[in-house]
Amino acid sequence: MPISTVNTSAFEGQKPGTSGLRKKVGVFKQPHYLENFIQSTFNALGDCEGKTLVVGGDGRYYNQTAIQIILKMAAANGFSHIWVGQNGILSTPAASCVIRKYQAFGGLILSASHNPAGIDGDFGIKFNTSNGGPAPESITNQIYQQTTEISQYRISNAADIALHKLGLQNLGDMTVEVIDSVVDYTELMASIFDFPAIKALLTSGDFSMRFDAMHAVTGPYAIEILEKRLGAPAGTVINGIPLPDFGGGHPDPNLTYAEQLVTELFSDDAPDFGAASDGDGDRNMILGKQFFVTPSDSLAILAANAQHIPAYKSGITGIARSMPTSQAADRVAEKLGIEAHETPTGWKFFGNLLDANRVTLCGEESFGTGSNHIREKDGLWAVLFWLNILAVKQQSVAELVNLHWQQFGRNYYTRHDYEGVPTEQAEALIQHLQTQLSTLPKKQFAERTVSYADNFSYHDPIDNSVSEKQGIRIGFEGGDRIIYRLSGTGTEGATLRVYIESYEDRPARLNQDTQTALSELIDLANQLAKIVELTGRTAPTVIT
Ligand code: G6P
Ligand code: ZN
Repeated sequence: MPISTVNTSAFEGQKPGTSGLRKKVGVFKQPHYLENFIQSTFNALGDCEGKTLVVGGDGRYYNQTAIQIILKMAAANGFSHIWVGQNGILSTPAASCVIRKYQAFGGLILSASHNPAGIDGDFGIKFNTSNGGPAPESITNQIYQQTTEISQYRISNAADIALHKLGLQNLGDMTVEVIDSVVDYTELMASIFDFPAIKALLTSGDFSMRFDAMHAVTGPYAIEILEKRLGAPAGTVINGIPLPDFGGGHPDPNLTYAEQLVTELFSDDAPDFGAASDGDGDRNMILGKQFFVTPSDSLAILAANAQHIPAYKSGITGIARSMPTSQAADRVAEKLGIEAHETPTGWKFFGNLLDANRVTLCGEESFGTGSNHIREKDGLWAVLFWLNILAVKQQSVAELVNLHWQQFGRNYYTRHDYEGVPTEQAEALIQHLQTQLSTLPKKQFAERTVSYADNFSYHDPIDNSVSEKQGIRIGFEGGDRIIYRLSGTGTEGATLRVYIESYEDRPARLNQDTQTALSELIDLANQLAKIVELTGRTAPTVIT
């Protein structure tokens, strides 16, 4: 089959961010734009002869078009075999699962996570390595370097692959295997959790749940697992048909965007359990009847109950959380006598710890939770973990969380986001904090004394790499913290995130309203950073 070598020139700005290259669809659709990035990725990987790849995406607009191009370029670059999800569909966790299961050389995941989709929406691509996790910076930097130097790409002139047709097809000398998008992932879930126990709960008649797939990729996975395998009634999964524009919504599972689910779970006749996942299926939100579980608490509660889950019953080796995630999980690690790690924001920082078996569970305040079963965070996995615990303990979500607080204390936690701040103002604010850091230790603010103040730097204990300036931390005696960092995923201007946390173990004070319980620290956080003076903002745009 003839192969064309096409002349091209570099595009600016093809630098992969925390989760690959994310741009507006219109940017990706420019002639040669996608091709340049794919060829640069292949160039960065070196000799592709005989190598294998997994390809799939979250089904958003442009997914199948991009996949056809990628397959033809892979063939022209010497790859020997590609596993591609049927109709181009693979959730991010399913892609990670398939890469590991078939021992592929790597994978290309097409997604812009929770960002809106459609012709005017976003698109994205990232490369994952053979461990199933996002490529480390050493690789993404090489990809970027290649994008600045590219002058040619190679593409096969073969016909399109029939992406709906399961089984093997040829594309030049390369074989393309269209695989069922959900089977491998479902099998993995069944090997981790006690499906019969969860099924007994879901079919007992006195437990009801809703899962909101938000018209994104988890619909088919959730319908297969929750409704078909575990017997939940039809209709348990809402918005379960993936749409190329995600139904015009913003599939981010949080109290603001998962509005339909939140309204139902906080209504008078709310179901017992509610959950949602994001565009590509790696985030999760957990709700009980009129009850919201913070992602930080969720991680701690999963860790504290891991012994009830078949795959973790012999114990977990350690827990990792991103730096701004509350310290609730650390208390569980201490009690269990296992390692606790604090990493910079971004799932990729967990990879080394997981590969070295230093941690089993990981989580982030940004609605991500996962374990060593794959190398991405995993939305449905977290939902099944919760259901498995509820099935074993026969408690409501609220009871389980309250009992956890009684045992470990409660880390009151909130995040205040200031979106769309001009970049110079946001940087000046961080600089203003930076210059105060050395003066803060031992300083007293009302009853609180600062114990440390720094700009977080992470020393990876496995490869000894150092990641600096990962966010300003102000820690107080007793464990309260204020954290400031600029978002690495925002698209317009800068997003300042302020994370506020306070520990409480007095039984009478475990059930306060979060914003009230944290009001003094919130005021202090605003004063220390001079948020009003330096940004003109008198209130956050989003509070979670
Ligand atoms: C993505 C990454 C997460 C990370 C989050 C943080 O979702 O996959 O690992 O926690 O971004 O985003 P931020 O906007 O706070 O940098
Ligand atoms: Zn995502």
